[in-house]
Amino acid sequence: MTPRQIMLVQATFEQSRARSRIIGERFYRRLFSRYPELRALFTGDMQDQAGKLIRIVAVLVDSLDRPNETADILFELGIRHQVYGVRIEHYRAAGRIFLWAIKPSDGNPFSTEIKQAWMAFYEMIVEQMVEAPRQALQAQA
Ligand code: HEM
Repeated sequence: MTPRQIMLVQATFEQSRARSRIIGERFYRRLFSRYPELRALFTGDMQDQAGKLIRIVAVLVDSLDRPNETADILFELGIRHQVYGVRIEHYRAAGRIFLWAIKPSDGNPFSTEIKQAWMAFYEMIVEQMVEAPRQALQAQA
């Protein structure tokens, strides 16, 4: 991510912090309505899960200027997601829905530049959750 993309993600997340719970809930509602087969992967309370998702997103957004502080968190989160049965196509689907869920609710859509910044943010997370563990496994083999 470029410094400007980091700034844009942090600034737009700041504006949505107050409604971040709603963002998490909107995200899962749409995920399960589009991909009902994913519902069975989740065993816990979905309000709790929405809270967990948004809390980690907040930590990641806040740490964007210090990515080495979150590399280990994302690596381990990625390994746990492998165990949950999450596959790369699930990440792709979730990414599109996340972008939809995060956009402002006041009817003013994000500019292309802001959307691209959030896409770069999501790609960076997936890279560290999926690619980093995969490469570590390959290095072991
Ligand atoms: C890339 C962005 C994602 C982030 C940041 C994220 C974050 C989290 C967090 C923080 C948890 C709480 C438990 C833990 O820490 O292990 C969790 C659990 C979980 N996530 Fe994700 N997740 C992401 C993508 C996905 C995708 C694409 C799926 C596919 C459906 C998924 C499925 C799950 C499942 C099944 C659980 C366990 C829920 C349970 O125990 O009932 N996640 N996720």
